Amino acid sequence: MPLATLRQVLDEAAKGGYGIGAFNVNNMEQLQGIVGAAEEVQAPVIVQCSRGALSYAGANYIRHMIMAAAEDSSIPIVLHLDHGDKPETCFMAIDLGFTSVMMDGSLLADGKTPSDYEYNVDVTRQVVEAAHAKGVSVEGELGTLGGIEDGHGSGEVHLTDPDEAVAFVHETGVDALAVAFGTSHGAYKFAQEPTGDVLKMDLIEEIHRRLPDTHLVMHGSSSVPPELVAQVNQYGGALKPAWGVPVKEIQLGIRHGVRKINVDTDSRLAVTGAIRKVFAESPEKFDPRDYLKPARAAMQELIARRMEDFGQAGHAGDYEALSLEEMREGYAAATAAA
Ligand code: G3H
Ligand code: 13P
Ligand code: ZN
Repeated sequence: MPLATLRQVLDEAAKGGYGIGAFNVNNMEQLQGIVGAAEEVQAPVIVQCSRGALSYAGANYIRHMIMAAAEDSSIPIVLHLDHGDKPETCFMAIDLGFTSVMMDGSLLADGKTPSDYEYNVDVTRQVVEAAHAKGVSVEGELGTLGGIEDGHGSGEVHLTDPDEAVAFVHETGVDALAVAFGTSHGAYKFAQEPTGDVLKMDLIEEIHRRLPDTHLVMHGSSSVPPELVAQVNQYGGALKPAWGVPVKEIQLGIRHGVRKINVDTDSRLAVTGAIRKVFAESPEKFDPRDYLKPARAAMQELIARRMEDFGQAGHAGDYEALSLEEMREGYAAATAAA
């Protein structure tokens, strides 16, 4: 199946009332774990690459790997740029064949300093214009997440302001909007199980009420399952006690317009736990396949479970992927009508 666009899969998800996981990929085994899970439960899927992933694997390698996965499989796959830091990075991804890009204008191009609203609108609008002309979808972000442990972010939390969200969507024309409501990237999101004081689910409800046709995006959505943390530590790891976003809170978000759910940390935990187990139990092994195969299987198992949790399982056959040309024509018609 050709690659699908973000707009296309999120429109379908909105009609069906489910969410779609966006899983980060850095190498072949992670990609196979993600696509294997999607095949297993027959789900559409968003595969996303950060700038770190592109520089780790090489943008061209990643692109060819994902194109190969799309050619070999029957499920809709979105190829998405995660946290584009400036318009040029998004343009590069569009030229490479990504079907969706995130322009994260909530931070300046250093990926650390919170920007102001005008800057955010300016860079996001530039990307929307260029992307939509080629049929590519765009995710923007308003507000900033907490946490800096993955090197991304300011460490300051700025919750999304609903009035600004309405203006931002109208001024930029984004297809999806990432909102800040108390999550952060990485394993150490909360010091204890998060309550309503920490996760502002009512903010999501309000933004959805004000922007019912905008697909909302939840970053920092790993649940940090205790059994994965325990497995890492059982086999020599040194993770501190950690809490993530409970799956039931994500499901509540999905009922209030969250359509894209970003998960990276949980995959890292699954992969690391599996590799540590092999190293601890079979120290004589040194063929990379002996530990990468279980790592890939652990990631597939975790992601298949999340696909069931988010409701995307069973929805792979709901629609045919449109070509980028067809999407481009759709955007042109919508722009002319507006
Ligand atoms: O935005 C955070 C994602 O988990 C990607 O992380 O930049 O270390 O690849 P990364
Ligand atoms: P986690 O660190 O919670 O997996 O979040 C990943 C993310 O938001 C990627 O953009
Ligand atoms: Zn993120």
